[in-house]
This record gives sequence, C-alpha cells and structure tokens, in this order.
Amino acid sequence: MNTCTLLSLYLIVSVNGQYQISDITGVGRQFDGIGGLSGGGATSKLLVSYPEPQRSHILDLLFKPQYGAALQILKVEIGGDAQTTDGSESSHMHTENEENYNRGYEWWLMKEAKMRNPNIALWGLPWAFPGWVGDYGSTPYKNITKAANYIVNWVKGARDVHNLTIDFIGIWNERTWDNSYILELRSVLNQNQLQSVKIVAPDSIEFYPLDYTGFTQNASVFNALHAIGVHYPGTQLPENTRMSSLPLWSSEDYSTFNDDVGAGCWARILNQNYVNGNMTSTIAWNLITSYYSGLPYPRNGLMDAMQPWTGSYVVQDPIWVTAHTTHFTNVGWHYLKHGSGSGLLRGGGSYVSLTDGQNLTIIIETMSHDHSICVRPKLPAYIVIAQNITFTVLGSFYGIPKLYVYKTQFRYDNQSSQVFEKQDDYTIIDHTINLQVEPDCVYTLSTVYSPDRVQENSIPAPQPFPLPYSENFDTYDMDNEPKYLAQQNGAWEIVKTSTESFARQKTISRPIEWCPAPLPGTSAVIGDSSWQALPINVSIKVRSPAVNGARKLFVALKMSGLGCQAHFTSGIFLWLMPNTTTYSISYDLYSLTTVKSGQLSAPISFDTWHSISLSTMGNTMSAQINADYISAPFTGSTMGGFVGIGSSDYGYSDWDDLMIYEVPEIVSSIPTTKPTTLPTTTQSTTSPPTQPTTSPTPTVTQSTGSPGASCPTAGRPKLSTTFAILALILIAKLW
Ligand SMILES: *[C@@H]1O[C@H](CO)[C@@H](O)[C@H](O)[C@H]1NC(C)=O
Ligand SMILES: *[C@@H]1O[C@H](CO)[C@@H](O)[C@H](O)[C@H]1NC(C)=O
Ligand SMILES: *[C@@H]1O[C@H](CO)[C@@H](O)[C@H](O)[C@H]1NC(C)=O
Ligand SMILES: *[C@@H]1O[C@H](CO)[C@@H](O)[C@H](O)[C@H]1NC(C)=O
Ligand SMILES: *[C@@H]1O[C@H](CO)[C@@H](O)[C@H](O)[C@H]1NC(C)=O
Ligand SMILES: *[C@@H]1O[C@H](CO)[C@@H](O)[C@H](O)[C@H]1NC(C)=O
Ligand SMILES: *[C@@H]1O[C@H](CO)[C@@H](O)[C@H](O)[C@H]1NC(C)=O
Ligand SMILES: *[C@@H]1O[C@H](CO)[C@@H](O)[C@H](O)[C@H]1NC(C)=O
Ligand SMILES: *[C@@H]1O[C@H](CO)[C@@H](O)[C@H](O)[C@H]1NC(C)=O
Repeated sequence: MNTCTLLSLYLIVSVNGQYQISDITGVGRQFDGIGGLSGGGATSKLLVSYPEPQRSHILDLLFKPQYGAALQILKVEIGGDAQTTDGSESSHMHTENEENYNRGYEWWLMKEAKMRNPNIALWGLPWAFPGWVGDYGSTPYKNITKAANYIVNWVKGARDVHNLTIDFIGIWNERTWDNSYILELRSVLNQNQLQSVKIVAPDSIEFYPLDYTGFTQNASVFNALHAIGVHYPGTQLPENTRMSSLPLWSSEDYSTFNDDVGAGCWARILNQNYVNGNMTSTIAWNLITSYYSGLPYPRNGLMDAMQPWTGSYVVQDPIWVTAHTTHFTNVGWHYLKHGSGSGLLRGGGSYVSLTDGQNLTIIIETMSHDHSICVRPKLPAYIVIAQNITFTVLGSFYGIPKLYVYKTQFRYDNQSSQVFEKQDDYTIIDHTINLQVEPDCVYTLSTVYSPDRVQENSIPAPQPFPLPYSENFDTYDMDNEPKYLAQQNGAWEIVKTSTESFARQKTISRPIEWCPAPLPGTSAVIGDSSWQALPINVSIKVRSPAVNGARKLFVALKMSGLGCQAHFTSGIFLWLMPNTTTYSISYDLYSLTTVKSGQLSAPISFDTWHSISLSTMGNTMSAQINADYISAPFTGSTMGGFVGIGSSDYGYSDWDDLMIYEVPEIVSSIPTTKPTTLPTTTQSTTSPPTQPTTSPTPTVTQSTGSPGASCPTAGRPKLSTTFAILALILIAKLW
C-alpha cells in the first residue's frame, strides 16, 4: 500500500462526521434574510423596459415566494446623480428646492417586489449625493442635518407617493462613516415618526480585520443602530465584532460572474457567513444583470436580463442556490447554534440549520475551493472530499418523521449539473439522518415543502440592439428616464411642453461623487459595446450658462471603457462650444488630445435646436453641425463602443430625435454616378421647431437592396419611410 492510498484511507475514515441538530441549549442568532441589490449603480436599468410577459416572469423569478430566488430583502440605491459603477441613478432632489419621487426605476421595482411578497423588507442606501447636500464639497457630512433631511425625504417620498414602507436605511456606501451623522439620522427619522425605520451601517468595504468598537462601545451609537453591515467579509469578522449583540450582516457580497463557480461562491458564503462570521443576512450585488454588456462587472447578477428589445433573459444558477435557503425559511426564524445545528463539515463544506420553533431546515454546502471562488477577498486554500455525515436530531426536532430533500450538484466532468432538484423524501429513523455527500453540492432538508422548480417558458432568442433605431422621446410621461439611454453620470429625464417632448440632462453641479477619481461631466450611452462604424443624428438644444446650461456638449461614437474609470473612456467625441462658435474632436472623454478643431460658420444659438450628425467610414470620420461639414482621417482606437451624448461640465443640455442608422451593406456597392436631386424627406412632426433651413445639396444614390428594408415600421411610420433615403444620403455624403 503506497502513501497515497494510506492518506486517502485516513481521510475517508476521519471525515465521516457526526453532528447534532438540537435546540436543547437554545437557538442561535435570528435569521434576517437573503437579498439582492439593485443599484450601485444602475444595475436594473434595462429591466423596466422589458416587454410582457417576460418582465413579469423575471420579477416572479426574483421575488415570488417559493418560486425562483424568492428574495427576502430588496436593497436599492438612493440615486445621487453620479456614476456608481454601471451608471448613475437620479436623485429625488437634484437641487435643494425641488423634490420628485417619480424618477428612475427603483420605486417601480420596490412596488413590483412588494406586490409579489408583501413581507419583503426594503432597504435604501446612498452611494453619491447631489452637490448641494454637502455644500458643494466632497462629503455629505459637512452639515449632517442637511444630509439626514435629504435621506429622510426619500423615506417619506416612498411612503407618501408610493405607499412603500422602508425598513432599513444606510449611511454612505463604502465610504467613511461619522457617528454624529448616524445619531442625527436617527434623530431626524424619529422627529418624522419614522422610528420603525432601522439604521444599518457602515456598509464598509475594508477587509478583515475591521474595528467597529466605535459602534459597539459607544452606547448612543449602539442604540441608534439596528445592525452592523459589512461588505465582502470573506465570511469572517474580527473577534470583537463577531461577539457583538448587534445583528451582523454581510450587506453587500457576491459580485462574481454568475456561472456555476459564481453560484458556488454564493452557496458557500450564504452558509459560511453565519458559520464563520455570525452574519445573519447576506445581500447579493447585484440583484440582476440588467445593464448593457460592455459595462463593468458583466454578469454579476443572480440572473441576466440585458435584452429589453427581445425579452430574452437567462436564469442563472445563483437564483436556484438562493432558493435552497429562501424557499425553506422566513425572516425571524433562528439559526441553530454552532455545534448544535451549524458548523463546518469535517470533509470540507458547511451546514446550517434554521427553525421557527417547529419547522426545521438544514442547508449543506460542499463547494470546493476552485469551484466557489468569489471576486473578493482572496480565498485561502482548503479541500472538500466526498463524505458521509450523520445528523442526530434532538430537542424540538426529536419527533420529526421525514424531511423534504432538494439537491444541487455542479459538475465539471462533462456530466450535466443537477440544479435545485427535488429528491425522494428522507424518512428519519432513530432520530438519525445519514447522508453521502459529494463535493460541489448544495442539499436542503426541510419540514417545509417547496414545489418543483419552475420550467422555463419559451424565452425569446437574443438579438443585437435593433437598428435602425430612432427615439423622439414622445411616448413618455414627464420625468421618466428614457429607456435604453443608460446614464453614466448625471440624470436624463423627459421634459414635456405644450409643443414638444425631449430628454434633458438635469444635474447642474458636481455631485458628491462615489467614484474615486472625479468624472469630467455628464454622459449617457446607448446601443451596443461592439458598434464600430455607425452614422447617428441627434438634435441638441443648448441653454445659456446664465440659466445653468452646460457649456460644452458632445456626441460620441465607439464609447468604451465606461464606469468609474472615466480616464480610460475612449471613442470619437465631437464637442460643441457655443460660447466660441467652435467644435473639436477628441478620442477621449476628458478631451486631453484634440485631433481636429475649428470654427463654425454660424453661432450655436441658445434655446433653439441644432442638428448634429456623426459617423465613421473606414479611415474617415465625418460630422455635420447644422450647415457645417467636417471630415478628418480617423486614427483612434479600433475598439467598438456605444453611441454617447453628454457634456464636459454639469449643466442642462437638451436632446431630441436621436437616430442611429444601420451600416448598410450597400456601402460597398454605391454607384459611381451620383444623381444630384434632393429627395423629399418627411420631417418628424416632433422635429425641432428651428431646424436649420439651409443645408448643402446632398448627393443621393438610388439603389436596389435598400438598407431600410429591415426597418421596423410598426408605430414609427413617419420615420421609417425616410430611413432608407436618409441613410443613403448620409453614406453618399461621407463617401
Ligand atoms: C444645516 O442644514 C440645516 C437644514 O438644511 C439648516 O437649517 C442649517 O442652517 C444648516 N447649518 C449650517 C451651519 O449651515
Ligand atoms: C398601502 O399599503 C398597505 C400594505 O402595506 C395596504 O394595506 C394599503 O391598503 C395601501 N394603501 C393604499 C392607499 O394603497
Ligand atoms: C459617542 O459618539 C458620539 C458621536 O460621535 C459622540 O458625540 C459621543 O461623545 C460618543 N460617546 C462616547 C461615550 O464616546
Ligand atoms: C459567534 O460565532 C462563534 C463561532 O465562530 C460561536 O462560538 C459564538 O457562539 C457566536 N456568537 C454569537 C453571539 O452568535
Ligand atoms: C411551520 O410549521 C407550522 C406548524 O407545523 C406550519 O403551520 C407552518 O406553515 C410552517 N411554516 C412554514 C414556513 O412552512
Ligand atoms: C459512505 O457510506 C457508504 C455506505 O455505507 C459507503 O459505501 C461509502 O464508502 C462511504 N463513503 C465514505 C466517503 O466514507
Ligand atoms: C469534456 O468533453 C470535451 C469534448 O467532448 C473534452 O475535450 C474534454 O476533455 C472533456 N472533459 C472531461 C473533464 O471529461
Ligand atoms: C441626419 O443627418 C443628415 C446629415 O447631416 C441630414 O442630411 C439629415 O437630414 C438628418 N436627418 C434628420 C431626420 O434630421
Ligand atoms: C467657453 O467655454 C469653455 C468650456 O466651458 C471654457 O473653457 C471657455 O473659457 C469659454 N470661453 C469663453 C470665451 O467664454
């Protein structure tokens, strides 16, 4: 017998363990629920625009009890008008003198969640704040009363406008905390009869070891807090915190690519946050990948829904890992103590037991190291092997005759994984449960029954972003956030007047940013991160700086490298400077290097609409600003990217009639003889009132195989009829 065999024999003998499931000496900590985070930032952006019935089905998969993830907590960002990872979310108070509780999609999401599960807890947390909250400095703690009032307004808006009861409120995501602010927030909540709204803090990102003695040893702060929330604890907390009598929560965790290794990460931390760290609630960043692919942290949600134009979505396995706990527990149940229902398994992995005094739920996970790595922190080495485990059931559970059994096994050996599959019921004989468990499994044994996993209805196939695309912003209500236009910094909202409807960027001063490096100004993107050569048209209305108009606006193609790292944002940026009647072109968002610039023939007057177009074709980029044509060799990055709009500073900018054309295959076959007749084009009825009337006569090609042949005509006849001609005009011009 060689040493290897000896070693494995030794392991087999030693790992088979006996464990007690008992409440004889009492129970452990209260279970506070598993949740998902919408925000930090703009992670649910695309979901709200989904068609039915897919949108309802996705919401069911997230929130409906005993259906999909069946989340017990929904945590949302309190928008602060600034980039907070995958975009910006709008504040309810862009300025000190206004309040609006109809912006963005978090209100909608919270209502949809409550509709499906009235017991779901709601939680709000700010990442960024409008500049005025901090007197235009970089911290919200300059005047703690002002900051507390701002947050309490959001809680009141939820109640008064949406009939939503907020359960938890945080302080400042992953940034410094200030005990005086916590006390002030508690006091302002109480003054507003919001005693029931509990404060969770600090939502800190620093890794183990952490020092929360400022919370646990200061009696007033301790009393003002409901729970200590930490991010990415790696299932550990320092000893002095772990023993605190405050509830301990992993208030943001996971953040891992949602394949089966991500699902393994999620399974491991859901159990081990309690086993190793005494943490009783875990929140996944993020709830759902509903932001464009090409933005930071792709597929870091419990599932994916990035295709509102088709309704396509993917139910990833973290949904079913969540189900292993949430289908069989309720907030308010208790974990069993370490050593009498919860602990590590001798052969690797962990088990937790939860009870309401009568029902019993046992969750076992045996995730191997390499198949459960989370994005952070580093996971120390360990091994998991197949093992036999024996549970002796005592105390209140002594007489339980049988348990329902559900199993997940992720496989990496070309056999198909088993995901949340109901097994035969387990009959308990002699108060003993014997199980043979293998690595990379999750088992739930429970007195609570859950129906079989829902089968997917036919999910529409994914398709690229639909082209040609046009948006005239007419079909929205006032204050809506335009669909598909993913604001990256600042806040775009619909403005409706008696004659027109358009999108306005409404952030007029630098927010208290969450991103470490200051962002240059406002921006929003739309489309597809792989787009190369596309012609786009858009109308811009510039407002005077005297009424908070932005001074320098851009239209961009091929925008990539988004998120907080705006220094890496590249693309083709066409800038307009109305104050000097000039334009410039840069390949970066900070406009550090100007590749072309010049004077315009006519001023860009305030408060009137101006037509802009921009395109690339081969090695040439071309632009039109009213009657001026610009053309230059393109020498920038070959990376694809989004269409973008924005400004180099904070201030109002108005946008309308955005059109993104297909690159017609016809390009290669444009005839060499060019007729010179101007085609009659139908103007959109919502066209800007002051379209420039003079424009050079375009050269037009007539051709078979119109690029407009594939235009979606439904609902947009007025534009679709002109797409082919317009695209051809443009192509011909650029030619
Ligand atoms: C702080 O903000 C409150 C509420 O907006 C205001 O009443 C108070 O005057 C401010 N304090 C200072 C020192 O500016
Ligand atoms: C507000 O919500 C509660 C449940 O939280 C419900 O009982 C009540 O009817 C709702 N009120 C209105 C006006 O919808
Ligand atoms: C508790 O914290 C508050 C706010 O920082 C502070 O004013 C107070 O002095 C502290 N109390 C003690 C006993 O340290
Ligand atoms: C915290 O966890 C340890 C095991 O890591 C356990 O012994 C202890 O009882 C727990 N304390 C509380 C208060 O839950
Ligand atoms: C727990 O057990 C009680 C009594 O057996 C039962 O009525 C109740 O529905 C159970 N709870 C859950 C969540 O299944
Ligand atoms: C577990 O028990 C079964 C049945 O007694 C046995 O065949 C198997 O070898 C055991 N596995 C381990 C890892 O001990
Ligand atoms: C899985 O199948 C692929 C192709 O059939 C093969 O290349 C690979 O080696 C297999 N992997 C394992 C672990 O069996
Ligand atoms: C789009 O831009 C092209 C080129 O500037 C222009 O000829 C055309 O009229 C524009 N289309 C609309 C609908 O404004
Ligand atoms: C025009 O606006 C730009 C951008 O804000 C600014 O840098 C420049 O100083 C302004 N020029 C004049 C002449 O006002």
